[in-house]
Amino acid sequence: MTINKHRARLDEILALAPVIPVITIDDAASAPALARALVAGGLRTIEITLRTKAAVDAARAIIAEVPEAIVGIGTVLSPADYDTAAKLGAAFAISPGQSPELLDAAASGPIPFAPGIQTASDLIACVTCGFELVKFFPATQAGGLPVIDALSGPFPSVRYCPTGGISEANVAQWLAHPKIVAVGGSWPAPARDISAGNWSAIESRARAAAGLR
Ligand code: 3PG
Repeated sequence: MTINKHRARLDEILALAPVIPVITIDDAASAPALARALVAGGLRTIEITLRTKAAVDAARAIIAEVPEAIVGIGTVLSPADYDTAAKLGAAFAISPGQSPELLDAAASGPIPFAPGIQTASDLIACVTCGFELVKFFPATQAGGLPVIDALSGPFPSVRYCPTGGISEANVAQWLAHPKIVAVGGSWPAPARDISAGNWSAIESRARAAAGLR
């Protein structure tokens, strides 16, 4: 039951915009300004990766100060990371992969979760636990759209949020695929613009990304 509710909520969250900006942030103090720029450009759903010391504080600051933003926690590699996301009040958690422990924790946990996949075996593990909206990572490096086409045969109900190597140059091809609900990528808010506080550039890239579908 919970997982069905989570699945519906994750569908809603990922349908809000065609692109989820994937954020790696070193300075939590700049996080609310960054989130405001993304929201102003039309990208409300944001993935903050747990890859830096500042990530948890950054996510907390956005949740507290930018209520229009829908914050997901990414790079969730363990049940402990999933708990961190839930305790922060994140709207969802997302992973580049999956493990039995992580799938179990998230299947009965308090927030929606998108596990990461590359192979049919990964998908068997995810679908068995009730996860049918998955991250395909690293999407370009792992073979791109032909992989999604091939996996759609045995797994017709699975839908994807691909990330990895997606950019302004190729995003339209990804979004044209019927199994893709949204894509993730770092290009709307790259590290160099975040550290320079170049919010107007981020807002305008977000606006272009938001208008893609
Ligand atoms: C990541 O996990 O780094 C994301 O998939 C973003 O990848 P990108 O930098 O290639 O967009």
